[in-house]
Amino acid sequence: MQNQKQKKQLIVGNWKMNPWKAEDARKIFDGVKKEAGKLGSVQTVVCPPFVFLSDLSKRVSGHRVVLGAQDVFSEMEGAYTGEISPLMLSSVGAKYIIIGHSERRALGETDESINKKILATLKMGLYSVLCVGENERDAEGNYLQFVKNQLESALLKVPKRMLTNLVIAYEPIWAIGAKAKGVIAPADLLEMIIFIRKTLSDMFDRVSAQAILVLYGGSVDEKNTESFLKEGEADGLLVGRVSLSSEKFIKILQIAEKI
Ligand code: PGA
Repeated sequence: MQNQKQKKQLIVGNWKMNPWKAEDARKIFDGVKKEAGKLGSVQTVVCPPFVFLSDLSKRVSGHRVVLGAQDVFSEMEGAYTGEISPLMLSSVGAKYIIIGHSERRALGETDESINKKILATLKMGLYSVLCVGENERDAEGNYLQFVKNQLESALLKVPKRMLTNLVIAYEPIWAIGAKAKGVIAPADLLEMIIFIRKTLSDMFDRVSAQAILVLYGGSVDEKNTESFLKEGEADGLLVGRVSLSSEKFIKILQIAEKI
């Protein structure tokens, strides 16, 4: 599993609500595993829909390719129809949990529920991948304050000792998905990563903040991977659409391995 201190590149594939057949999920996972299992400098995480986790967990071998989930509920068990707890996700082999993805926020996820989910996940000893990112970039720079507010509310009351299991994914909404308005320039990404680190450092302390991996997500593909990791100085990537193609996802992993 990821040792954050070693700062391996962390590459997370978010399959979103795809594919719809278990057979296809197995095919993509096996394809990724075959190559990603050979890479020593990359921690690969595949986040399929909940229903495929149990099945895919039987195909995991070793720590180089592990499973994650795309969301979680904040309670461990009880009368919460339709919800899935950190305890359940842990029991089917999920190691990482994406929390506060913009697509979930658009469906009504609040800052308060994100905070509860982060606390529950970290308490369970799972890695939390907290997604933050602005809707649009304004000339006045209000987007920086927007991201700062998201970090502060999501990480309220998180004890410092739990920060080693926290990952931040910066995902500007305007750069995500098939309707993306564009891709971020590596220099703008670097500025945001520095800003996120400074915010975390002010909230906790410098040493704790340095240990937190900051990923980039939004229209990542095999052509822009290198610039986000090198010039953008991201500690890894959160990959949506392209993670459904094992061939393209493997290319991203191989590029990350060489950085
Ligand atoms: P995308 O999605 O790579 O398809 O833009 C990224 C995400 O939503 O995590």
